[in-house]
Amino acid sequence: MLHPRPANTRAVSIVGTGSYMPERVMTNHELADMVDTTDEWIVSRTGMHERRIAADGEFTSDMAAEAARRAMESAGVTADDIGLLLVSTSTPDMSFPSTACLVQDMIGAENAVCFDLSAACSGFLYGLEVGQQFVGSGSVETALIIGAEKMSCITDWSDRSTCVLFGDGAGAAVLQSRGAKHGILTSVLGSDGSLGDLLMVPGGGSREPTSADTVKNKRHYIKMMGREVFKHAVTNMSEAVTATLDRCGLTIDEIDCIIPHQANARILQAIAQRVGASMDKMFINVDKYGNTSAASVIVALDEAVRAGRVKNHDLVLLVVFGAGFTWGATLLEWFEG
Ligand code: ACO
Repeated sequence: MLHPRPANTRAVSIVGTGSYMPERVMTNHELADMVDTTDEWIVSRTGMHERRIAADGEFTSDMAAEAARRAMESAGVTADDIGLLLVSTSTPDMSFPSTACLVQDMIGAENAVCFDLSAACSGFLYGLEVGQQFVGSGSVETALIIGAEKMSCITDWSDRSTCVLFGDGAGAAVLQSRGAKHGILTSVLGSDGSLGDLLMVPGGGSREPTSADTVKNKRHYIKMMGREVFKHAVTNMSEAVTATLDRCGLTIDEIDCIIPHQANARILQAIAQRVGASMDKMFINVDKYGNTSAASVIVALDEAVRAGRVKNHDLVLLVVFGAGFTWGATLLEWFEG
């Protein structure tokens, strides 16, 4: 029962991945010079040692475009082939035009329909499912799905409870239908808007348009109830894993690699315990990059593939959670190019 997609949709696979992380490394020791924190506190509470920070003049679109070029190269496609270009982000270059349209221009994907998707840290898996539907239905032949964030521009660098957690970066995947076997086997996605207040950037939208007061009161930065977010992240990601396995008639032991949203090492340990997975099944790079929101799970997948951690015919489970709240899990059978 591995393939719960409707019989009339085409099989869709990820045929290439790429990622881009900015050069600048920010260590915990640097943060300890900026706010009242320590390397020991950050490592013990989050598992993070360092994160990447985009350069001045380096925007979400720049990181997205570079990740896209690397994904297209690994897939063996050109920009002309792209029929759908989607960017999942909470940190677009600007309200409009979309970051996807900016990336289209940068990489020359003139045949693509382009738009952004907002689902915070869950954005890449939401985008992957949209791409799966476009390619599966035959609307387009090739989709380029990107997760990209410049979290450093919505981080309050004087708030120790949030500034230690986030980093910048981008990842991308190319989707195509190649052969009869499904690479993207199923997705379970969920949302609960009633809990939106627990994690938000309140200012800068139509509710609190930018003004001298919103800037003075730091309304354009991340506001988070960390403990509450932690609990919901563990519960929802664990349930998404279980629901995905149930839908495909699999047990956790049959999964070769779990690639979670890199929120916090303690969240990942709690999920592994709940779903009965050993930690060595979990791919973790939160120590190097922190939480890069919509970029996190696709950057991790790209690194896992390039490191040989994900191999031909492996069953790979991606799982995410983010503001909204939003969450989801996607099961892949990995096919090497
Ligand atoms: N350095 C030192 N002390 C700190 C720091 C810091 N950087 N940040 C908070 N503290 C203090 C607090 O002020 C508090 O002090 P008090 O007891 O004197 O009031 C104490 O540490 C404990 O604070 P808690 O918030 O209860 O600490 P907790 O153990 O819950 O860890 C953390 C905080 C790391 C934020 C945790 O709650 C967490 O990871 N939550 C999930 C958040 C998350 O991942 N958000 C990302 C977006 S959603 C997602 O990606 C899943």
